[in-house]
Amino acid sequence: MSSPLFTPSQLGSLSLKNRIVMAPLTRSRALGNLPNELMEQYYRLRAEAGLIITEGTSPSPNGLGYARIPGLFNAEQVQGWRRVTDGVHQAGGRIFVQLMHTGRVSHPANMPAGASVLAPSAVAVPGEMWTDSDGMQPHPVPREMSEADIAHSIAEYAASAKLAIAAGFDGVELHAANGYLIDQFLNTASNQRHDRWGGAVENRIRFAVEVARATVAAIGAERVGMRISPYGVFNAQLPDAEMDEVYLRLIEELNALGLLYIHIVDHSAMGAPEVSPALKAKLRASFDGQYILSGGYDVARADADLDAQRGDLVAFGRPFISNLDLVAKLKSGQELVAPDFATFYTPGAEGYTDY
Ligand SMILES: Cc1cc2nc3c(=O)[nH]c(=O)nc-3n(C[C@H](O)[C@H](O)[C@H](O)COP(=O)(O)O)c2cc1C
Repeated sequence: MSSPLFTPSQLGSLSLKNRIVMAPLTRSRALGNLPNELMEQYYRLRAEAGLIITEGTSPSPNGLGYARIPGLFNAEQVQGWRRVTDGVHQAGGRIFVQLMHTGRVSHPANMPAGASVLAPSAVAVPGEMWTDSDGMQPHPVPREMSEADIAHSIAEYAASAKLAIAAGFDGVELHAANGYLIDQFLNTASNQRHDRWGGAVENRIRFAVEVARATVAAIGAERVGMRISPYGVFNAQLPDAEMDEVYLRLIEELNALGLLYIHIVDHSAMGAPEVSPALKAKLRASFDGQYILSGGYDVARADADLDAQRGDLVAFGRPFISNLDLVAKLKSGQELVAPDFATFYTPGAEGYTDY
C-alpha cells in the first residue's frame, strides 16, 4: 500500500531519494547559449526530484538549432553549468545533462556564426520554426553529412560528455528521441542514405550506437543513458515497417555497451500515437540496465507501472514546470497547478521560477 514512487532507489552508483525524474524540458532561458543564474535557481528549486535531467543541451555549435538553448562545448559553458550542478547538489539533488544536437531542426538565424545545419540527408523538416531575429521562418534544407562530418559529430558528443563531468554533472543522457540528430539517423523520414549510415536497420542504428560507444569510452557506461521515442512523430518523423526491429536491435547494442539506462518517450498523452505496450515490454526485457518511463504520468499510473515492474523510474515533465514543490504535492495528493504554455520558451523568470 506504500507508494513505490517515493521510495529511494539506486541508479548505478547514485542513490536517489525517490523514483521521480524531472524530464528534460527545453525552456530557452540560456541567453547566448550560456547557463546562467536564473537557470541555477530554476533547477535548484526542483532538486526534490530523485533525478533531474536538464533541458536539451547542444554538444556542438552545429546543434544549437533553437533560440536560447544552452550548449556544452566550451569553457564558459562549463563554468555556467558548474553553478547549476553545485546548486542542485547543495540542495541534495542529482543531475544529468541531456545532450541534444538539433541536426536539421534548426535555422541559421538561431546559430552562432560559422555553424552549419547538418543532417543525415538533405531533406528539410516541413513547416517553420521560431527565430528571435526574424520571427517564424521556414526550416532550411540541411547539408547532408559527409563521413568527416559524422566522425566529427560523434567526437563532439564524447568531448561534451567529458565537459559534463568537469561541470559536475552526475552523468549524461543522449537524446536519441523526438526527431533530433540521432533520431534523424534512425528514421527514414530524415535518413535517405544508401551508405553504411542508412538503409538497412543495422545502418540506421549505427550513428546512435557509435555516439553511445564514444560517450561510454569517454566517461564510463555507468554515467550514460539514452532517451528514445519509438513511433514518435514529433519533428515530422514517420513510423515505418521496420521500427520495432530498429529499436530492438538498438537496445541489444546498447546493452552490450552496458549503458546505465534507457528512457522511453511515449507522447500519446500529448496526442502522439501510443507506443505499443508489447514493444515497451520487449525493450525492457532485452535491456539489463534501468528503464525510465515518461509521458502523461500521475502518481497512480506511476505506482501501477512500478509495481508491475514496467519501469524503474518515472519521469514527469509538464507538472515540474508549474509546480515548484511537485514532489511534496504528489506525496500529499494536493492539486497541481497547470502550466502556462505561453511562457514555455520565453526569456526571463515569468513562468519559470515564479510559479
Ligand atoms: C516545454 C517542453 C519542453 C520539452 N523539451 C524537451 C527536451 O529538451 N528534451 C526532451 O527529450 N524532451 C522534451 N520535452 C518532452 C518532455 O520531456 C516529456 O517527455 C513530455 O512533456 C511528456 O511528459 P509529461 O506528460 O510528464 O509532460 C519537452 C516538453 C515540453 C512540454
